[in-house]
Amino acid sequence: MLKRYSILKNQFIGFCLMSFLMSLPTIVSASSVELGEQLVKDQCSTCHKFKGQSESRFKIKGPDLMWGGSKFKRPWLIDWLRGKEPNLYQEGYRWDVEQKPQPHVILSEEGANAVADYFEKHLMGFRVKKDAIDLSHFTELQAGFGRQIFIDHSCTGCHQIMDDGQKMGGPQSTTFFNSGKRLKKDWILRFNAMPPDFVPHSGEFVADVSELGLHYVTGFLATEGDDSFKFYEPWTSQHFKNADTKRGRTIYKEYCSQCHGAKGDGDGPAASGLEPKPAIHAKMAMDQFPLDYLYNVVYYGGKAVGKSPYMPYWGLTIGEQGVADVIAFMQDEFKGDSGASSGATAVAQKASGKCPEKRTTKKVSFKYSNKKNPLKPNASNLKAGETLYQKSAKPMNCQLCHGKNGNGKGPGGAGINPAPRNFTCSSTIKDVSDGQMFGIIKEGSPGTAMPAFKNLKDKQVWQMIHYIRQFSQ
Ligand code: HEC
Ligand code: HEC
Ligand code: HEC
Ligand code: HEC
Repeated sequence: MLKRYSILKNQFIGFCLMSFLMSLPTIVSASSVELGEQLVKDQCSTCHKFKGQSESRFKIKGPDLMWGGSKFKRPWLIDWLRGKEPNLYQEGYRWDVEQKPQPHVILSEEGANAVADYFEKHLMGFRVKKDAIDLSHFTELQAGFGRQIFIDHSCTGCHQIMDDGQKMGGPQSTTFFNSGKRLKKDWILRFNAMPPDFVPHSGEFVADVSELGLHYVTGFLATEGDDSFKFYEPWTSQHFKNADTKRGRTIYKEYCSQCHGAKGDGDGPAASGLEPKPAIHAKMAMDQFPLDYLYNVVYYGGKAVGKSPYMPYWGLTIGEQGVADVIAFMQDEFKGDSGASSGATAVAQKASGKCPEKRTTKKVSFKYSNKKNPLKPNASNLKAGETLYQKSAKPMNCQLCHGKNGNGKGPGGAGINPAPRNFTCSSTIKDVSDGQMFGIIKEGSPGTAMPAFKNLKDKQVWQMIHYIRQFSQ
C-alpha cells in the first residue's frame, strides 16, 4: 500500500515538473528519468526485460529492451509509445501463441518523453559503440547495394520491405518499411554483426557478408524511409573540383586502354573476347553524360548501373581522386562522333538512324512476353514518360543512347555496337511487343549496351513505352 502510494506521488511530481520543463526541452530533468523508470517498472516490465541476459523469444512476451536507448530514434519511440505507429510484427510477436498483432500500451506525451529519457540515460547497450558506422559518405547507389544484399542473403525470407509499392518478403519478424526512422545506425551495425548476441534461439539468422557488405546493408536499413537523410554525392566533392586531366590521361593509359584502346577506339587487347564490346569512347560525347552516371559506372563498374560486369569497378584501385581525374580526362578528350565540335553531334542527332534496322535482340522470358500496357496513352502518362526518357531515368536517361528524337543517335549512341534501337523506324518497331519492350527495359539486353533498369517502377516503364511508340507514329 505504502509503496503504491509513493509511486503515485512520484508520478505526480514528475508530471508537474515535466510540464514546467517543456519550455526547456534540451534539459533532461532527473525526475523525468525517474518518472520514466517508474512507468517502465509499473507498465512495461510484465512483458519486456530491461536488464539481465537476453532470452529466446519463445520465453518472453515482448522484445528485449536492455539496449532500448541505443536502438530507437527518439521521435519514433515517442510515436510508438503514443500509439501512432503500426505494429512491426504482422503475424504477432508470439506467433506460436497467437497470430494477431496485439494493440500496444499507450502513454501520454509526458509519459512517452519520460520513458525516452529513461531509455537514453539507462539503457545504452554496452555493446553498441557510438559512431561505429560513419554514413556521412553514404550514397544512394550504396543503399541500393545494401538492398540487393538484403534480398540476396535471404533477409526478405523473414523481414518485409517495400518493393515498388508492394510488401515483399515473409512477415515472420520485424518489418523494415521505415527502419531508418526507427533504428539507430550504430545499433543496426552491432546487431547485424552477430544477431544471437541480442536475440538468441529466436529464429534469427547469421549471414555470410563481407565487412563492406555489412556497411552497405546497415546503411540501407539505417536510411530506408528516412526522408531527412541526405545521401552523399561524390561528384560534388573536392576531388572533382581538383580533377586533373593530365593525371587522368595517365590513368586511362594504365588501366582503361587495355579494353577501351589507347585512343578510346574500343580496340584494346582484351576487347576481342568481350561481348558487349567495350564502349568506343572516341565516338561518344562524354561531356554530355551526367557526372553521377560516369562516377557510378567508373567507381562501381558496369554491373552496378545495369551494364556488363566486363566493365570492372575501379574505385578500390584508383581511388576517389583517380576516378575524378579519369572522368575529367574523358570529358575533355571524347566529344562525339567526328571529333571535337558538339555541332557535329547535333547534326548526327538530327540525321535519321538505319531503317529497317537489323535487330538481333533476344526474346524476353514468358514472364514478360505476354504483358500488355495497362496504362492509357493520355497526356499525363506521355508527359511522365517523356521526363523519364529525356531526363530523369536512373542510372542514366534513355536519350543519351537512343537520342532526343528516338533515332538511336544520342551522344553515346555511335560508340555502341549493336547500336541503340531506332524508335523512329516503324517497320522494325511495330513488331516489338509491349511485353518485349517491358522485359528488355527491366532486365537489359544481355551482351549489348542496353542496361537493366531494375530500379524503375512498373508504371514508369509503361509510361516510357507509350512515349517511345510515339516516335514511330
Ligand atoms: C502486454 C505486453 C506488453 C506491455 C505491457 C508493453 N509492451 Fe511493449 N511490446 C510488446 C509487444 C508484443 C511488442 C511487439 C509489438 C509489435 O510490433 O508487433 C512490443 C513492442 C515494443 C517496442 C518496440 C520494440 C522493437 O523491438 O521495435 C517498444 C519500444 C516497447 N514495446 C516499449 C514498451 C514500453 C515502454 C512499455 C511500457 C510503457 C511497453 N512496451 C509495454 C508487448 C508489451
Ligand atoms: C530465418 C529468419 C530470419 C532471416 C533470414 C533474417 N532474420 Fe533478421 N531477425 C530474425 C529474428 C527472429 C529477429 C529477432 C526479432 C524477432 O524476435 O523477431 C531478427 C531481427 C533482426 C534485426 C533487428 C530488428 C529489430 O527491430 O529488432 C535486424 C536489424 C535484422 N534482423 C537484420 C537481418 C538481416 C540484415 C538479415 C539478412 C542478412 C536478416 N535479418 C535475416 C529472423 C531472421
Ligand atoms: C547505354 C546506352 C543505352 C541506354 C542508356 C538505353 N538504351 Fe535502350 N538500347 C540500347 C541498345 C544498344 C539497344 C539494342 C539492344 C539489342 O540490340 O539487343 C537498346 C534497345 C532498347 C529497346 C528495344 C528492345 C527490343 O526488343 O528491340 C528498348 C525498348 C529500349 N532500348 C528502351 C530503353 C529505355 C526506355 C531506356 C531508358 C530508360 C533505354 N533504352 C536506355 C542502349 C541503351
Ligand atoms: C576489362 C575491360 C575493361 C576495362 C579495363 C575498362 N572498361 Fe570500361 N567498359 C568495358 C565494357 C565491356 C563496357 C561496356 C559495358 C556495357 O555496355 O554493358 C565499358 C563501359 C564503360 C563506360 C560506359 C559507357 C556507356 O556505354 O555508357 C565507361 C564510362 C567506361 N567503361 C569507362 C572506363 C574507364 C574510365 C576505365 C579505366 C579506369 C575502363 N572503363 C576500363 C570494359 C572495360
